[in-house]
Amino acid sequence: MADMDWASSDPDEPGHRPVDLQTDQPHPARVYDYLLGGKDNFAADRAAAEAGLRANPNSRIPPRENRAFLGRAVRYLAGEAGISQFLDIGTGIPTSPNVHEVAQAVEPRARIVYVDNDPIVLTQARALLTTGPQGRTAYIDADLRDIDAILGSPDLQRTLDLSQPVGLLLVAVMHFIPDEDDPWALAARLLAALPSGSYLALSHLTGDFDPAAWAGVVAVYQRSGVTMQVRPKPDVERFFAGLDLIDPGVVSLPRWRPDPSDVGSPPGDAAVSVYGGVARKP
Ligand SMILES: C[S@@+](CC[C@H](N)C(=O)[O-])C[C@H]1O[C@@H](n2cnc3c(N)ncnc32)[C@H](O)[C@@H]1O
Repeated sequence: MADMDWASSDPDEPGHRPVDLQTDQPHPARVYDYLLGGKDNFAADRAAAEAGLRANPNSRIPPRENRAFLGRAVRYLAGEAGISQFLDIGTGIPTSPNVHEVAQAVEPRARIVYVDNDPIVLTQARALLTTGPQGRTAYIDADLRDIDAILGSPDLQRTLDLSQPVGLLLVAVMHFIPDEDDPWALAARLLAALPSGSYLALSHLTGDFDPAAWAGVVAVYQRSGVTMQVRPKPDVERFFAGLDLIDPGVVSLPRWRPDPSDVGSPPGDAAVSVYGGVARKP
């Protein structure tokens, strides 16, 4: 992407406004995009990602495995679990296939509300709104820590029926919420607003399998202004407190219900360094 500091939110939307992309600082959504091989990133994002790769040469593996987990989890929810409404917080830059494409391939009536706080995701939100004719999607520009803004959003209320089960997706986002913002309480507040039969799908970076490499990556991102925190397994399991974990529980991502069609041996736990799980609200 050519360097530019300002872009516009969707120009077809009434009230669209210029958006400050803050291209001089790395942003998680753009660093992730670079690691996935995307083009929606700037020099500061690439520099942070390359420094992360020097600290841990495996750094491209977690995003790839995470995207695959997201796909499997959404297919599971839309299929076996019968979920047709999704709240995807920390959506990221649109990346094919997006959640609505995966869900609507299984359940054409699936409705998805996307939430992210990164201005570049806002400028590309149009790609998230390309729903199939029987479904519906919406995008909310909000911070995960502002639960009232998310749940009170007219876009959410128009799109989801909160009296019916919802699949809450917190995929590769909670490691950007530091302990002092109590990410567990945030997840619990979101789940409290959803009825019995709803699900949480969550993934989270961990230093459990390669502490030295991840200490290096965290230090690199902290120095460049990105708050990131890897967490041990018990801290990741805490997000699922009070829920019924479905098999196989909280595991290294490639171990979570691998597709029978996957060929080759999966990367090892240290290379992946992301836990994931899916659980049902009783
Ligand atoms: C690593 S990406 C994950 C994208 C997608 N969920 C996936 O798994 O492929 C993390 C996303 O979370 C967003 N994010 C980070 N902190 C956030 C916050 N406090 N509120 C909302 N979104 C946030 C970032 O902007 C980024 O788009």
